[in-house]
Amino acid sequence: MSANILFHLDEEHEMIRQTAGDFARNEIAPIAADFDESGDFPYDTIKKMGEMGFMGIEVPEAYGGAGMDTLAYVLALEEISKVDASHGTIMSVNNSLFCSGLLKFGSEEQKQKYMRPVASGKAIGAYSLTEPMSGSDAGTMRMRAVRDGECYILNGRKSWVTSAPVADYIVVFAMTNPEKKHHGITAFIIDTSKPGFIRGKKEPKLGIRASATSEILFEDYRAPLEDRLGEEEDGFKIAMTVLDAGRIGIAAQALGIAEAAYEASLNYAKEREAFGHKIGEFQGVSFKLADMKTRIEAARLLTYQAALAKEQAKTTGGRFTLEASMAKLFASETAMFAAHAAVQIHAGIGYSKELPIERYFRDAKITEIYEGTSEIQRLVIARLETGLH
Ligand code: CAA
Repeated sequence: MSANILFHLDEEHEMIRQTAGDFARNEIAPIAADFDESGDFPYDTIKKMGEMGFMGIEVPEAYGGAGMDTLAYVLALEEISKVDASHGTIMSVNNSLFCSGLLKFGSEEQKQKYMRPVASGKAIGAYSLTEPMSGSDAGTMRMRAVRDGECYILNGRKSWVTSAPVADYIVVFAMTNPEKKHHGITAFIIDTSKPGFIRGKKEPKLGIRASATSEILFEDYRAPLEDRLGEEEDGFKIAMTVLDAGRIGIAAQALGIAEAAYEASLNYAKEREAFGHKIGEFQGVSFKLADMKTRIEAARLLTYQAALAKEQAKTTGGRFTLEASMAKLFASETAMFAAHAAVQIHAGIGYSKELPIERYFRDAKITEIYEGTSEIQRLVIARLETGLH
């Protein structure tokens, strides 16, 4: 039963939700467990998602995208993640961390050269802010970019870069003026086929194992002036603006994981018997289901609201930081809550790799960590509300 009356989807939104859901169930569901086990990158399904327009949903058709709105993106990502969060991660980084940054801050030439192939799924995009010694405190990065005539020379090391092992282009942030801290950071588009770019070892991960993550290293990488994204020293604001968009994507991913965990639990509770009753008749189980459902619907409202806020900001130019952080915080904690409850309701079989329940549990955890931990989301929300820093 859907409690969702605030968001009556129009025909276009309903169609993308249905199309993404059908694709996920038909094409991704049969391979998800194997790719989770092997940790291989699912090239074939990602290529198909590109052909279907899922890799650049908000990018105008003139630049190779699907030309749809943020709600369409959220709905598609939710449906993909409901079946497999790894595909959701790859899709979200491509859409919101790469394409949204180029769409907002890129030059016409950059949009044609880099965004077009990524939005149409012919190339893969990534985003790199974090460093080994600079995670939540993103303004403390050490990576340097030094101007040398018509180029910048980049040196340094970045970590936890989603899709880095397979990415063609990466938006990377580096200090051009370290004394100015946040105000001395500049953004660049990196072509990973060029000399000076080195991929580090792939990270073995707890969850989202089919999405590839690694360190990247720069040794005298020469970025021509035309590959600088935005103005010099605008990097931190670009990084934060892009993350605002990214956090809505992670909220949608988390919502998908939570729904998968809930639906499996609901079905199981109606079938499985103990002590002569369906286990759903026991409050120990049914109250868990009630809490899961309630939190999921609340997460959905926050996530769709954030999507609408981002859509509105496209015309007003305003920010949607608060909406994005609240959606990401609540949806990711809902995913973890629902996945935890799902394992408990399924008990032994939930802990086994025979069902995807343990995968939901492993996959849910990252949504509370990447693109800003839950603690960072609380900090952002509190600062915006109190006005205190
Ligand atoms: N939009 C626009 N501008 C923003 C902004 C936003 N959302 N947030 C901050 N700014 C601006 C501020 O207005 C300020 O500008 P002025 O100095 O001109 O006034 C400037 O940026 C500095 O802001 P703060 O003083 O608030 O900066 P801070 O050092 O206190 O940090 C923070 C703020 C919110 C904690 C930020 O550092 C942050 O978000 N940290 C988390 C980083 C993160 O999410 N990392 C994940 C990386 S991606 C990833 O996970 C890997 C992957 O591949 C998916």
